[in-house]
Amino acid sequence: MNEHAAGISLATLHKATPHDSAPKHVSGTAEYIDDMVEPAGTMHAYLALSSRAHADILSIDFAAVRAAPGVIGVLTNEDVPGVNDVSSAHVHDEPVFALGKVQFWGQPLFAVVAETRDQARRAAHLARIEYRDLPFALDVRAAQAAGGKLVTKPLKLERGEVEAGLAAAPRRVQGAVTIGGQDHFYLEGQIAMAVPGEDEDVTVYSSTQHPTEAQVMVAHVLGIRQHAVTVEVRRMGGGFGGKETQGNLFAVIAALAAKKWNRACKIRPDRDDDMSATGKRHDFVVDYDVGYDDDGKILAVDAVFGARAGYSADLSGPVTDRALFHCDNAYWYPAVRARSEPLYTNTVSNTAFRGFGGPQGVLASERWIEDIAYALGKDPLDIRKANFYGRDSDNVTPYHQTVEDNIVHRVVEELEASSDYQARRRDILAFNRTGSILRKGIALTPVKFGISFTATWYNQAGALVHVYKDGSIHLSHGGTEMGQGLYIKVAQVVADAFGVGIDSVKIMATTTGKVPNTSATAASSGSDLNGMAAWDACEQIKARLLAHAAKLHEADEADCRWVEGGMQVGRRFVPFAELCASAYMNRVQLSAAGFYKTPKIHWDRATGRGHPFYYFAYGAAVSEVTIDTLTGEYSVDRVDILHDVGRSLNPAIDLGQVEGGFIQGMGWLTSEELVWDDKGQLRTHAPSTYKIPLASDIPPVFNVRLAEWSVNREPTIGRSKAVGEPPFMLAISVVEALGMAVASIAGYRVAPQLDTPVTPERVLMGVERMKGMAG
Ligand code: MTE
Ligand code: MOS
Repeated sequence: MNEHAAGISLATLHKATPHDSAPKHVSGTAEYIDDMVEPAGTMHAYLALSSRAHADILSIDFAAVRAAPGVIGVLTNEDVPGVNDVSSAHVHDEPVFALGKVQFWGQPLFAVVAETRDQARRAAHLARIEYRDLPFALDVRAAQAAGGKLVTKPLKLERGEVEAGLAAAPRRVQGAVTIGGQDHFYLEGQIAMAVPGEDEDVTVYSSTQHPTEAQVMVAHVLGIRQHAVTVEVRRMGGGFGGKETQGNLFAVIAALAAKKWNRACKIRPDRDDDMSATGKRHDFVVDYDVGYDDDGKILAVDAVFGARAGYSADLSGPVTDRALFHCDNAYWYPAVRARSEPLYTNTVSNTAFRGFGGPQGVLASERWIEDIAYALGKDPLDIRKANFYGRDSDNVTPYHQTVEDNIVHRVVEELEASSDYQARRRDILAFNRTGSILRKGIALTPVKFGISFTATWYNQAGALVHVYKDGSIHLSHGGTEMGQGLYIKVAQVVADAFGVGIDSVKIMATTTGKVPNTSATAASSGSDLNGMAAWDACEQIKARLLAHAAKLHEADEADCRWVEGGMQVGRRFVPFAELCASAYMNRVQLSAAGFYKTPKIHWDRATGRGHPFYYFAYGAAVSEVTIDTLTGEYSVDRVDILHDVGRSLNPAIDLGQVEGGFIQGMGWLTSEELVWDDKGQLRTHAPSTYKIPLASDIPPVFNVRLAEWSVNREPTIGRSKAVGEPPFMLAISVVEALGMAVASIAGYRVAPQLDTPVTPERVLMGVERMKGMAG
């Protein structure tokens, strides 16, 4: 096989080609669903949400709702002609609206459809609802205490002799780490607009990472076949996993209304309702028992990963699976047992979020590394190095896949040197000895992230490439654009394949009508999968064009060569447009559907064994912080990152992903705190109470580099690696740096054990705890 897409670059591939929508993003002309011209007579739907965590619904009186100005009607479960379920899980536990009882505060009860959005929104509050309260459990510990009912079968990963390993270990640490959740806070909230067509047809414009699933859900709920439903998305204003399944409900309600009244219908919750009614990152409590030796080498790990799944299964099974897949991070455990507990709770159903459970797994591993380091009085970096995957028997993961592409040693070594880690750590230790009320901390943490969907069948993609007679190109594929730059990367692949400029490639909106049966754009695999599918389509067209050129000019195919701008046929140069025009006249097909499936991967969940990941992406970060021991306030002063994206398809986009991923991860771990009150109501449902990082929270020194020497050893598109999620976990270095600053109070003799998010309050509590220990 050729080196993919490495042929006739017109300086597009592997170059910092600007995001196709960048000028439109910054000038406000990029079209999102709420910007689209509404068809005449468009109706607006709005959700009514429950105000109980768990209760039987005794009655709902709609009289005042129906009488409100502009109201066209009310949608309830009675209006569902097909299957009343929008769940992506196989358990079918998500009716469109609460059925008989509510299972969390904020659960959709019905939708009001009105002439304007404002009318629908006001009317949605007018129903009189009688509840009978039922007992509820809100969080991991409460759910465990109430019997630990799981939303789906747990996963167990096991290798080696865990009991014997723990028993024989000279040292042991047992503990628990609490890891907070996170709201996606996409700038564009959930939204869908449905336009009815003739017969059963309906077209839904949906802000979704998973158009095919939206299509399937709409078909199910309407009781029609999938070919009657078209789902289209040009771009999302951010998804971050929050639009993998959470868009289904909105697509379905818009479609239900559109077919019921034969008018277009749009639905867009406001921010508070979006935050109350849609799922978030899972918060976890991880209980661990780790055996190690006097050098800090880990001998055995036994851990249970309890996660707040919410009221339904959604993606909680796969998300907690991925937490387990990453409980090793970059470390080899001679013996390990990890179990998942996706716990049913009376809260919103948690879902995919950048890293998909992986970050929680990595954080847990870094917690016990930290515990070991403080117990031994060593720099945690030394403990990390002592436990990195090696090259012999010490390179098998808890899921029995061998790590074959390990570059963590080089990444960490280079970053350690370029960030001047050792000297800075010495300076910080000296500074902290001065007894200042300010304390500093520094930490270097690595990441190793597995690339591929663990749902093996998802690792496929399709593309559709049309070449027109003038040499211009339409590119469609199954991936969606959410700001991450997938569209420009795949367009670069196509431009490079044909040897034309990027402006010859028009990127089409993603629609189920062009490429069917697509996977969610998720698991960071968008460019890996769709890039290869598009490349395959291009190769088919190129082969036909080459055969045609040879015939037309009576040359050997061997004498025909793709060059920049066209084809060299012997001594004659045929410009691409001319080639396409003559191919058309000679009835050569100028369109092709491409396909790709990831090789090598397999996974058996029942036995916990397989090769679920095609390859791993690596990275490392050094963070330096200063805390105020009187208030708990802190600043992140400097961050250095070295991250591996293989051979970058687009270094500008990739740097943006690394920076954005880090900052979003830092938000998760420091300032973003979800608070439910004792009645089960989420109290942090707007930016007034939920603090995402601002531009001003970017560290004043932020040195981000790609590991330019890295080349994917697998034949991925352009030998690149996925970038969307892995850098998110680099923010764990901030937690560990804060931990060091806190631990300085007690002379680093006590492990800081900061739970996340590490808010200033948590830092202050940590300082007080250390003062108690020191005293
Ligand atoms: N970057 C931006 N700007 N917006 C997003 O919504 N989502 C992230 C990541 N980067 C996201 C993003 C998540 S959760 C994933 S899985 C990947 O992008 C998905 O896109 P990819 O597979 O093309 O990398
Ligand atoms: Mo990303 S959490 O896989 O959408």
